[in-house]
Amino acid sequence: MSRIRKIRSRRVWDSRGRPTVEVEVQTETGASGRGIAPAGASRGTREAVELRDGGNRFEGRDVRAALAGIESEIAPALIGFDVFQQAAIDDALIALDGTPDKSRLGGNALIATSLAVLHAAAAESGLPLWRYLAGDRPVKLPLPQIQIFGGGAHAERRVDVQDFMVVATGARNFEEALEMTAEVYLRAGQLMRRRGAVHGVADEGGWWPVFSNNEEAMGVLVAAIESAGFIPGSDVSIALDIAASEFGKQGRYSLGLERVELDSDGLIEKLLRWLDRYPIVSIEDPLAEDDEAGLIAFTRAAGERVQIVGDDYLVTNAALVQDAARKKACNAVLIKPNQAGTVTETYRALQAAQQNGYASIVSARSGETEDVAIVHLATGWNAGQLKVGSFARSERMAKWNEGIRIETGDHPPAGFSTSALACR
Ligand code: PGA
Ligand code: ZN
Repeated sequence: MSRIRKIRSRRVWDSRGRPTVEVEVQTETGASGRGIAPAGASRGTREAVELRDGGNRFEGRDVRAALAGIESEIAPALIGFDVFQQAAIDDALIALDGTPDKSRLGGNALIATSLAVLHAAAAESGLPLWRYLAGDRPVKLPLPQIQIFGGGAHAERRVDVQDFMVVATGARNFEEALEMTAEVYLRAGQLMRRRGAVHGVADEGGWWPVFSNNEEAMGVLVAAIESAGFIPGSDVSIALDIAASEFGKQGRYSLGLERVELDSDGLIEKLLRWLDRYPIVSIEDPLAEDDEAGLIAFTRAAGERVQIVGDDYLVTNAALVQDAARKKACNAVLIKPNQAGTVTETYRALQAAQQNGYASIVSARSGETEDVAIVHLATGWNAGQLKVGSFARSERMAKWNEGIRIETGDHPPAGFSTSALACR
């Protein structure tokens, strides 16, 4: 046991230059831990709500109210708690906030605090965070999903699909997965340059998606995989985040580039055609979060051959995961700590996934920082997969590099999750 002695908060800045919340927790022995809230751009409606000030400053995104709540309410309530009692601390945070969506004190204030407590507990025990979380269980490094082209809300809707990613399905370890992805990322850049289509990168570091339709991006992605010397579908495969809630409501989907409007069945048919034509192993939010019937239908049609990931639909919520499993919607869950708002709720969502035979992918947000906690969560909780954005920009690379440190450290995990994808 070691009591929390001090909690400090400050405003820091995320990868989009926007304000965010950092919390530092110190124990009575002087051990300390820090957590920073990330921020999404394509959020599910049932996520924990961020507390932002509104008004003119920083486009209304300042976090002074969230910091004030930490100083005046959260810190006094948590001082004296045993830092190892993560669940009790998270319960206290939830009760203190008192709202179902964490809007009073802010999901950003809560997740930064909860992560800081977790880091402080690991520091107190003298263990790397992943090892502290794993305890005696043998755990494996996660299989990465890495973005090559950004799109959707991360690229001014230049294309509809949000993430065109690769998964190094033939990699034998984490380092090799990164090595293979690095080659594909560079080759994709060369191909774009040859097309005269390099215009910088999107929010998560993927190449800016100058394409005339969504499918063209997949064609170039396959070409990049081949140009890197890999066999598409065995060495390196494709993962997509359709993020369909961004362009579809109430069963109507409007694809901006193709200027077509589809109903749920129409979009499903299109996605099934993509599955036939391209080596796709994972597809996230294929239908909008309000189109549960569509998600069930798509899972029925494709759930045996491809991983179908619920992000906006499941928002890292254990009860929603249970419910989806009952209805047979999706077969995998995206796990984003700030969607839930506390570490304990995040872990419960992951447990619900594992208990129901769903695959899980711990994920960053499009607004990120140097915080590398998610790499440790993915490893220590044995989640199987990790999604961080692209292979460029240091808020992304900090995470990939942390995975290399974990894999090549003195007492590394038991291995690498080669078969973490649903359906493989
Ligand atoms: P966000 O998107 O972090 O911008 O919400 C990430 C995702 O949809 O996976
Ligand atoms: Zn998503």
